[in-house]
Amino acid sequence: MKLFEPARIGPLELKNRLVMTAMSTRLAGPRGEVTEQLTEYYAVRAAGGVGMVTVEEASIHPQLPHVPNALGVYGNHLLPGLRNLTRRIHDAGAHTSLQIGLYFRQPVNGFPRFAASADAPDCRPGCMELTPDEIHYLTGLFTDAAIRTREAGFDAVEIHACHGCILSEFLSPYWNRRTDEYGGDRTGRFRFALEILEGIRRSLGSGYPVIYRISGSEFHQGGFSPEDGIALSCALEGGGVTAINVSGGLGHINHISIPPSDVPRGILLPLAQGIKSAVKVPIICGNSLTPEMAEQAVSDGWTDLVGLGRPLIADPEWPLKVREGRSREIRACIRCNQGCFGGLRDLKTPGLTCLYNPSAGRELERTVHPAIAKRKIAVIGGGPAGCEAARVTRLRGHDVLLIEKEGRLGGQFNLAALPLKKDDFTKLAEFYTNELPRLGVQVRLNTEATPELIGSLAVDAIVVATGSIPVVPRIPGGDLPHVTTAHDILTGKAMIGKSPVAVIGGGATGLETADYLSERGLDVTVIEMLDAPGRDMMPGIGVRESLLARLAEKKVRILTGYRAMAIEPDAVVASDRPLKGGGNEIRISAQSVVFCLGNRAEDAMSRLEPACGFRNLLFGVGDCRFPGNALNAIHAAYDLAAIL
Ligand SMILES: Cc1cc2nc3c(=O)[nH]c(=O)nc-3n(C[C@H](O)[C@H](O)[C@H](O)COP(=O)(O)OP(=O)(O)OC[C@H]3O[C@@H](n4cnc5c(N)ncnc54)[C@H](O)[C@@H]3O)c2cc1C
Ligand SMILES: Cc1cc2nc3c(=O)[nH]c(=O)nc-3n(C[C@H](O)[C@H](O)[C@H](O)COP(=O)(O)O)c2cc1C
Ligand code: SF4
Repeated sequence: MKLFEPARIGPLELKNRLVMTAMSTRLAGPRGEVTEQLTEYYAVRAAGGVGMVTVEEASIHPQLPHVPNALGVYGNHLLPGLRNLTRRIHDAGAHTSLQIGLYFRQPVNGFPRFAASADAPDCRPGCMELTPDEIHYLTGLFTDAAIRTREAGFDAVEIHACHGCILSEFLSPYWNRRTDEYGGDRTGRFRFALEILEGIRRSLGSGYPVIYRISGSEFHQGGFSPEDGIALSCALEGGGVTAINVSGGLGHINHISIPPSDVPRGILLPLAQGIKSAVKVPIICGNSLTPEMAEQAVSDGWTDLVGLGRPLIADPEWPLKVREGRSREIRACIRCNQGCFGGLRDLKTPGLTCLYNPSAGRELERTVHPAIAKRKIAVIGGGPAGCEAARVTRLRGHDVLLIEKEGRLGGQFNLAALPLKKDDFTKLAEFYTNELPRLGVQVRLNTEATPELIGSLAVDAIVVATGSIPVVPRIPGGDLPHVTTAHDILTGKAMIGKSPVAVIGGGATGLETADYLSERGLDVTVIEMLDAPGRDMMPGIGVRESLLARLAEKKVRILTGYRAMAIEPDAVVASDRPLKGGGNEIRISAQSVVFCLGNRAEDAMSRLEPACGFRNLLFGVGDCRFPGNALNAIHAAYDLAAIL
């Protein structure tokens, strides 16, 4: 395969054409120090066969991390940790570069906000415009950081100039409204980026590889265009850049930079090709490519090297598996953004992880240890929790039997894949369906675990992972024939009713159901008790934002702050005093009503326990203990399996 032919980035010869792109992890220490966990995370990815690992954006000033626990390269005291990191990546057989950059709009420690232009469209009050002197100061910081990058043993430095970071603000006509020499036409807008390149070249000479990560397009009216991308690439080539990494999007304004499952795969490739045809330096581009797309992208000359981001979080061995013809074994990224981008945003978590690779970002604590004593284990339920429990217990050496009452694995996550634009989610069930038999788990489908069956099993431990079932509230009219649940609609147990439809509950499932129904031409109103829709969805990772935008486009009405009080044959009665009762009542016309009010545990434990016998160990995991989401279910299953 052409993907596995060596490729050059200036003086470097990479063993293949795969580059892990920069992804912030929040796994560094509080002052940006390399931690053992961070090192292990990258060493594991390097060992998975990628040609070059780009280590995440490192702060060039101690007061300017872009997220808490961002990696730093701002001082010499950070060098020992960085050197150890590059040594571990090199020992694992990969080249490595470090991305350096600066975000000013999301200060994390009260530092004043700065921007390219104070009057940019979304600049908040108090945001200050950088003066030319401050720009020169920052140029010096970039140069110092590049020098330190080389001293730390990185084979290249990558300058972050996309996704809404400060350099991309200068480059973008959407954000750069300056009238001095750093604004206006392309010459002005490109000046800061080119001065940084010049500063680095002056300090490091012409031989050290400098990569620029730019937007091929910001995909936004008035933003950085594909023509800008080509012009900038030509200017950077003139300034001595070694390679160009083509990304896209406009930071938090759209979500092309970390695309959720509703963004088509490979949309950056035409931009990369446009740039490739204008310059001679190598081009790196990826963005959610499957192995087949990646091979085609390099074979057909769309890009020289393929960038892989989340695919390597989900499965560090993606390169090895593809090279060895084992693509079916890949734990494919489903572009949910929950564990990775979510881990970055949710400061209550220890940082980046993956929905269904619980070891990602937790490599030190979650390595599979062989069991001391081999046991016979039965897992009841083949949803995400049961599958993960079966996978890990089997990897630890136990004999594992998985019993699932339906005809396929995946549980409710199969329903999660049905709403619009979530086809990627089917890959989770595909992974476990291939992986469990491959590992030697005995999978028994179409078999309901009854107390009798449990009683007949000669096993040492039982893991119950029977999931959850939808909540159906006891409100007047809740049992009328035109009332159903999202589960019944998605499983096809209930027919999609007549328009207009009232969806009761505006959490993730309610909104997705509204999306699903409105796509079929139905007139939909969502009734949500809380003050905002999708409160159970993480904000800022693209998924909630895209879904709400789609619903708005399709004119789905979302009534927040209303509680459904009663259902009538042609309407839902809702009150605007949702928690206290009383208040103003309104009638929402509805020929069909769908409940989307969350789930309650399917309590199989109490039914199955008497049949287990005192010698058996019985555990519950996933939704059947705490109805929630697949990430929590899978991570809990891993942790349980690790101690059985
Ligand atoms: C429409 C929808 C969208 C969703 N979207 C997301 C999302 O975007 N992200 C996210 O993280 N989560 C999402 N979820 C939630 C997620 O699917 C669940 O949290 C997750 O599937 C729980 O996993 P589990 O294994 O604990 O239970 P389940 O997935 O419910 O699996 C339980 C399994 O046990 C089987 N079973 C039950 N009783 C028995 C028995 N007696 N014998 C044998 N088998 C039995 C069931 O058939 C089922 O296969 C969504 C859910 C729905 C319904
Ligand atoms: C958690 C997370 C953090 C990211 N941080 C950065 C970053 O610091 N710099 C950067 O250039 N891109 C960053 N990205 C974007 C990725 O490098 C990559 O371009 C994007 O995820 C799309 O590629 P993929 O579909 O292969 O993941 C980040 C992505 C994720 C998921
Ligand atoms: S959390 Fe979701 S988007 Fe992120 S790497 Fe894992 S599967 Fe991919």
